[in-house]
Formats: sequence, C-alpha cells, structure tokens
Amino acid sequence: MAVGSFRRSIASQLSKVLDLPPENLIKSISAVPVSKKRHVADFQLSLASVIENGSSDCLGQDLHLQAQQLAERLKCDSVVSEITAGPGTVNFTINRELLAKTVLQQVWKDGSEYGVKSELFSAVPRQKAVIEFSSPNIAKKFHIGHLRSTIVGNFIANIKAALGHEVVRINYLGDWGMQFGLLGVGFQSFGNQEKLKSSPLQHLFEVYVQINKAAEDENTKKLAKDFFRKLEEHDEQTLSIWKQFRDLSIEEYIRIYKRLGVHFDEYSGESFYQEKAQEVLKMLEDKGLLQKTIKGTGVVDLSEKKDHSTVSTVMRSDGTSLYVTRDLAAAIDRMNKHSWDTMIYVTDKSQSNHFQHLFQILKLMGYDWAERCQHVSFGLIQGMKTRRGEVIFLEDVLNEVRSRMLQNMTSTKTTKALQDAVETAEKVGLAALIIQDFRGLLSSDYQFSWDRALQSRGDTGVFLQYTHARLHSLEQMHGNAELTDVNVACLLEPDAISVLQHLLRYDEVLYRSSQDLQPKHIVSYLLTLRDRTAP
Ligand code: ARG
Repeated sequence: MAVGSFRRSIASQLSKVLDLPPENLIKSISAVPVSKKRHVADFQLSLASVIENGSSDCLGQDLHLQAQQLAERLKCDSVVSEITAGPGTVNFTINRELLAKTVLQQVWKDGSEYGVKSELFSAVPRQKAVIEFSSPNIAKKFHIGHLRSTIVGNFIANIKAALGHEVVRINYLGDWGMQFGLLGVGFQSFGNQEKLKSSPLQHLFEVYVQINKAAEDENTKKLAKDFFRKLEEHDEQTLSIWKQFRDLSIEEYIRIYKRLGVHFDEYSGESFYQEKAQEVLKMLEDKGLLQKTIKGTGVVDLSEKKDHSTVSTVMRSDGTSLYVTRDLAAAIDRMNKHSWDTMIYVTDKSQSNHFQHLFQILKLMGYDWAERCQHVSFGLIQGMKTRRGEVIFLEDVLNEVRSRMLQNMTSTKTTKALQDAVETAEKVGLAALIIQDFRGLLSSDYQFSWDRALQSRGDTGVFLQYTHARLHSLEQMHGNAELTDVNVACLLEPDAISVLQHLLRYDEVLYRSSQDLQPKHIVSYLLTLRDRTAP
C-alpha cells in the first residue's frame, strides 16, 4: 500500500456517500498538521473546501451538522480505524500498524523521491518551464539581490524538475551597453592580462571603478563612446576584447555557482539581442504601437485609463534599443527556440514595473503567451556586510560564511574533529544562508544577521544540517536492516506517531510550494520535522 492510498481510500468511501467522483474529493482531504496539542486525527475532510471546489450542491448551510451526519454514515474499515466529526470537518484516523508500515515502506523505497509521485500531482500537466535567474552584470557588483535571485531561481528550477517538468535554466547576463565602452578604454590604461586571467570578475570591477573616476574627463568619455560604437559595428578587434571579458567572467561564474550547487543550461545576455531588438522596434512600428515623443524617443502607450497615462520607453532618440526592448526580443526568441509553457523571471521587486510593462507590450504585440510569463519578485536584504566591507562579489559571501562557520565549529567543544572541516563548514554555512533566506515570504525585506543565520540551535540551517547528519548516522548504524525486521510496535508511541503523521503531509507541502513558488512551506515543514526528531 502507498501513502497516497490513504487519501484515495477515504475519498472512495466518501464518494459513495456523497455521490461525487473521488477525484473531486481528494483535494479536500488533507493530512492534519502536527501541533503541540495532541492530535485529533491523521486526515481531515473539509466540507467548506468541498463546496469551494465546486463539487457539491448536496451540502447545505449548516456544515457543523452536515459533518456530524456524514461521520455517522461512514464506516471504519481495514484502512480507517476511527471517524469523528469536528466543526465542518470529518476526521479520519488510520489504522496504526498500517500507518507505520506504509509510511516507513514508502520513505524507504522512494528515498529522495518520497512525496513526488503523489496523486496530488497527477492532475498537474507536465510542462516546459524556462527559468531565468541570477543574471549579474559583468564588471559591476554582484549584489545581494543577485544572490537572492540565484538561490530562489535554483529552488524554483529544482522543484519543477523534481516534479517531472522540463526545465531550462537561463542566466541573462548584463553584458552589453556603454559600460563596455568604458571598460574597454579602462582596460587599455589599467588592465593587466595576468590579473584578468586569474581573477576576471575582481579585475574587471577594479578597472571599471578606476575608469569611472576618470570618466569625468571629456576625452575618456569620447574614447568610451568610440569603443562602444565599434562594438556595435562589430569591429573584430574590439569584439574580441569584449568576448575575452565575457568568456573569462563566465568561466569564473561557473566555478563559483558550483559551490552553491547551481548550474545553467544557457548563458545568454543582453548582447545577444542588440540586433533582434531592432527587429522588435520595426514590429512595433508596423503594428502601430510605436509612438515618437517630441524628444525623438520611441514609446509604447500602456495607459489603461484615458486620464492616467503610462508609457514604456523602448527606443532612444538615436534609434538604439533599451533594456526593455532587449527583453522583448529575448522573450520572443526564447519562445521560438524552446516553445515553453511557462517562463519565470526571478529578480528583486524593484523590477516589478519593468516586467509588468514587458508582459503588457508582448500582449499588445499579439503574443497570447505573455499571460504565461511570470515575474517572481523578492524583497531586499539589508545589512549584509563581510569583514572586507560591502558585498561586491558572490565569492566574498561564500568565503565569509565558510570562515565564520569554521570559527564557530572550532570554538564549540562538542564538535568532533572533522577530516573535512572546511568542506563541512562550507556546506553547513550555505545551508544556513539559504534557510535564513527561505524562512519568510519571498516578498518581505529582512535585516540580515550572520549571528542569527549561523546559530547552532533554533530555526537555522545549521540545526537542520545537524539533524540531517544525525539521521544519516542512524541510517548508517542500521543500514543493513531489512524493512521486514522493523518492529512496528515500536512505532506506536505518540512521539513516533507524530513523526509518521508529519511525513504524511509532505506531498501537500510540496504541492503548495510548487504552486505559489514560496520555499517557506518546505522550510517550515523541515523545521517541524526536526522538532519531531531532535532529542
Ligand atoms: N542584469 C539585471 C540586473 O542586474 C537583471 C536581469 C533580469 N532579467 C531580465 N530579463 N531583465 O539588474
């Protein structure tokens, strides 16, 4: 028997009494969250939810009474050992031995796929999802927003892939624009090939800072303009300098992302869409959507009401494209290339207007799929500083978390001497960073604190990793045991039952996170699992 069969078995009994197809009832039956108070039951049917799902006219006004009548008409069987009525709910308790055996067997059998095969997902069609995330700007700071985009985007891509969707992970680099004119000129004065090869991100950033200081002077400005113009005209030599900056930066990004367990299927970027953006401007013009302002810039009118004008600027007065124009070209290109079902952009909320405009323009252009584009935005993190000061590179954050964690480990007497202390510090530290970030709603801003994130107890990634390691060592100790050797009677104690009950909910939690793309449901599930299993 599978865990999912509990819900199905309850649904099939109910379906006879309520005269409704069992599929309509499954969503209204949920595992009861484990709370400090003793448990009422394992599963609960919510009558309000049955009505909400539009599945029943036979339920009347008084849900209290209805629940009672329903509970009386249902019978216990080999799966359900007790049925009671609550306020607007019917509660089901599963036969204890069956519960223990089934949950255990399935966790054992499915391993990391536990929950993924649940019937809750069977009605969800498999899709192809393009997820664009991280997207830093070459030669500029990799700020904390990019870090957040990296871990949130990775979470979304992972959960979708785990649930059987096809996922394309795209990193859309800021790799074009006047900054490359300045950088090119800056490199001629301050650049160093050795440094560029050994640490491209840092070196390009330093050059960029230096040349920006010098950029006040008219001559530098002119040189930078010329350099960028040559880039736009595809001058071979200029292009090859730019390409070296880009290629070396990507190499280093790949190395650093690896530390986070993140990879991309495509490194694209604004540079890819210079020419295609011109085609987009032509299309906008042909469709009568491009309006010229007195200043000569090109805008698209997005006003919904006459008295409230909103426009999006898509063209500079010299005819060149802007950020949004390149995004229009990129979206159309990705549709042609991948025929995706859904496309998700992950950035901080300061870009919400940008994406709203982008989707609106696509829609005006007649692309119905604009409705299947989604911007997943997140709030700002304040106060993340490293010992070197402000965060400039992703690697700074990773090194900082690792060294702080290592320090905590060495100062804790209980930590055993580890062979791979640095590696462990890195893994645990990163988990701490991610859990700190995923605990709340993505849209909330929060004040970052190293001490809070790295606490060894409490709601932290450190404590979760500790629990994980403990459970693994138990598994190692008993790894040879056959499931048939397990004495189910030992699992009937209230503490054991509450772990089993919690495990019953996992598919629902996964389902929730996969629907609203908020990792916090999974995090709080794991924290409760830790409470249930920690000594
Ligand atoms: N490079 C941009 C930045 O750092 C983020 C890119 C977001 N994605 C996009 N398709 N516009 O702000």
